[in-house]
Amino acid sequence: MTAWTDAAHAQVDLAAVLGRQRDRESAARTYARSFPVVPVHAEGLRVTGADGREYLDCLAGAGTLALGHNHPVVLGAIRRVLDSGAPLHALDISTPEKDDFTTALLDTLPPELAADCRIHFCGPAGTDAVEAALKLTRTATGRQNVLAFTGAYHGMTAGALAASGNIAVREPLADNGFNVTRLPYPYDYRCPFGVGGPRAHEIGARLVESLLTDSHSGVLPPAAMILEAVQGEGGVIPSPDSWLREIRRITATRGIPLIVDEVQTGVGRTGEFWAVQHSGITPDVLVLSKAIGGSLPLAVIVYRSTLDSWRPGAHTGTFRGNQLAMAAGAATLRFVAAEQLPARAASLGERLLTELRVLQARTHCIGDVRGRGLMLGLEIVDPTAAPDPLGARPAAPELAAAIRTECLRRGLILELGGRADAVIRLLPPLTITDAEADSVLNRLGEAVTAAERGANR
Ligand SMILES: Cc1ncc(COP(=O)(O)O)c(C=O)c1O
Repeated sequence: MTAWTDAAHAQVDLAAVLGRQRDRESAARTYARSFPVVPVHAEGLRVTGADGREYLDCLAGAGTLALGHNHPVVLGAIRRVLDSGAPLHALDISTPEKDDFTTALLDTLPPELAADCRIHFCGPAGTDAVEAALKLTRTATGRQNVLAFTGAYHGMTAGALAASGNIAVREPLADNGFNVTRLPYPYDYRCPFGVGGPRAHEIGARLVESLLTDSHSGVLPPAAMILEAVQGEGGVIPSPDSWLREIRRITATRGIPLIVDEVQTGVGRTGEFWAVQHSGITPDVLVLSKAIGGSLPLAVIVYRSTLDSWRPGAHTGTFRGNQLAMAAGAATLRFVAAEQLPARAASLGERLLTELRVLQARTHCIGDVRGRGLMLGLEIVDPTAAPDPLGARPAAPELAAAIRTECLRRGLILELGGRADAVIRLLPPLTITDAEADSVLNRLGEAVTAAERGANR
């Protein structure tokens, strides 16, 4: 397969590039397996492959690209730094770019946190910011145990992985020395208590309180609790606001620092600038990455200054001063706020949820439709299997994979997640237009129908 694109990419031999990747890169590669695409051009929602095909990208850098690919505001900020002659690498030394990014970030934060917080620039990945948050709270409390939730995803480094739920990834490293107590996350479709709805949320919160109160619960006093307000990799599961408020009350009254991991939910994705703003809670530590770098690598934690018991060098790293990411990030944060993109994500997300429920009703394999803002998920189930007492059917990972393939065939890139990889996830840029959203829905609808037809053959 050979394709000619623009002059910059001359002749790209698609099959050869993909073949070399297969032969040279590790068996752990992920998205590359699902998407045999060699992107050479990208703008907004649209990505053009080396074969000249255009795709609608609803993966958007795993939720990183709040403004889509190559937004002019982002490109302008990057060009400005490049043209200024400023150093591109600055460790954690003060620069005008860092000063400006910090100001832009503080302007967006929940006021109670912004009023009295510290920011730490981490190595440029969400997982390093999670490590920093765990290290900070362990240092501040002198405790080791961490409370984390079923379905959680916090990253791939040792501490973050220990706090994550995916057993397949954790198993080879099961005993990595991190002490984590696992708690049930509210997941209505597959309720851990077999109850579902507000009653289950009450029971879940009550269990947490009981484990922390009972002197014989076996749960050691924790250094922190870490959670996502909407679980992403766990299968797009929003936590109820009332549950989150209750969790905040329980942790606050016991002096347990609450770390909220907003790596994926931040910067307008869920319909508020930060997902904690739906419930109105103020966490003790916010973990931020992905969209805050405006498509370039950047990660920080923001925490109450009372936790700042670190010594100099307690969490260091060479790549904590990416000036291009800070400029792109500041521009993105300001654009998202000025253009009220969180509100746009909320209203478009509501419309998409409604349309996806229509799709659910006219097909057979969509067990659940859920999400918040532009973080949406469809749980794919086996329509021929018997439902459990709450109406949930078993997950159908092969059918979900077939839908992803049918989507790609129709020029739509989206990824799977959740239990058994059976949840179709939509994470489009916040700048997606109504017409583009309709196009995504049409292609997805056709793909579900085609995959169902294929499964029945
Ligand atoms: C909620 C959450 N936390 C942490 C991470 C890890 O971030 P990174 O992949 O940049 O290490 C992710 C990545 O998807 C995430 O979704």
